[in-house]
Amino acid sequence: MRPYLIGILAGLVLLAAAAGGGYWWMVRRTDALRYTRLDIPLTDIRVPNDSASRAEGERVAWSRGCHGCHGDSLQGKVFLDEPRVMRLVTPNIPEAIARYSDAELARIIRHGVTREGFAALGMPSATFYHLSDLDLGRLVAYLRAAPLVPSSLPSTELRVMARLALVQGKLPTDAGTMDHSAPRLGDRPDSTPVARGEYLAVTICTECHGLDLRGQDNAPALPKALGYTLPEFRSLLLDGRARDGRDIGLMGRTARRRFRWLDAGDIDAIFAYLATMSLVAQ
Ligand code: HEC
Ligand code: HEC
Repeated sequence: MRPYLIGILAGLVLLAAAAGGGYWWMVRRTDALRYTRLDIPLTDIRVPNDSASRAEGERVAWSRGCHGCHGDSLQGKVFLDEPRVMRLVTPNIPEAIARYSDAELARIIRHGVTREGFAALGMPSATFYHLSDLDLGRLVAYLRAAPLVPSSLPSTELRVMARLALVQGKLPTDAGTMDHSAPRLGDRPDSTPVARGEYLAVTICTECHGLDLRGQDNAPALPKALGYTLPEFRSLLLDGRARDGRDIGLMGRTARRRFRWLDAGDIDAIFAYLATMSLVAQ
């Protein structure tokens, strides 16, 4: 073989080894980041044991979107599968929580921290953080009673782009970014419709409209609802119909699946709260 060919070959082998070594380093580093234990203490919650509470818990679960991500029977699903990015799989809840104590279950919901103490990818816990003890207890009672529908799911897989984002700190989790000791809205008495409406909007709408409800991605700032009359707002949330009849995609589907679980009092309370928001952030 000619010397220059040997040189090129050796160069290629070295390059491949460097790339392989770099990737190996990144996998090690990102696994270490993903499996860093977060020190969020467990707190006991009271879980009621009557059918009315479980029925309320089902309403909490549907309106907060547990089924949207975990499947209609909470059996889990492939939530996202992007080549070179990641496959994110939501677990089968009844199966997974058999290993969880009630306090651990409360922690994964409110803080996004798994039983083992790791940050859960994709769990919108900054939203659920504000759930009241009463609603959380009812939710847990419902989840405990939910029948186990067997499912065989692949595992979550972080691929090269997601790993790159993770080392750069650009793959945030709620557990890693939220304030774990903020005053909890659910601890406040929600005796007025406006207070009740704020509680509902923060534990439901912030998931897509942003933590301050001032818009995120395609979801607009919510004071836009001010353009709605109360009957129009009811129709938006219960039937997914925009005021001007436009197809509003994800919002329409979310309303028809999730918000039909809200009752008229809930919807009027959300409307009352949104009406108190100023048009511009202060
Ligand atoms: C936006 C999507 C989304 C929503 C909404 C959501 N989850 Fe999750 N959840 C996930 C993902 C993704 C995981 C897996 C996280 C991981 O593997 O790191 C998860 C993990 C969990 C786990 C951990 C199970 C285990 O194997 O340790 C539980 C329990 C859970 N979710 C319950 C709920 C409940 C209850 C609700 C509703 C209050 C809910 N989730 C709403 C996406 C979601
Ligand atoms: C799963 C994500 C999601 C959730 C949860 C959600 N929204 Fe939306 N919402 C959207 C998106 C996306 C749009 C933009 C739709 C479009 O214009 O195509 C939208 C649009 C809207 C609009 C404007 C409609 C119009 O006429 O343009 C209002 C008002 C609204 N949402 C209210 C709410 C309220 C109130 C809640 C909580 C009860 C809520 N949304 C929860 C995703 C969501």
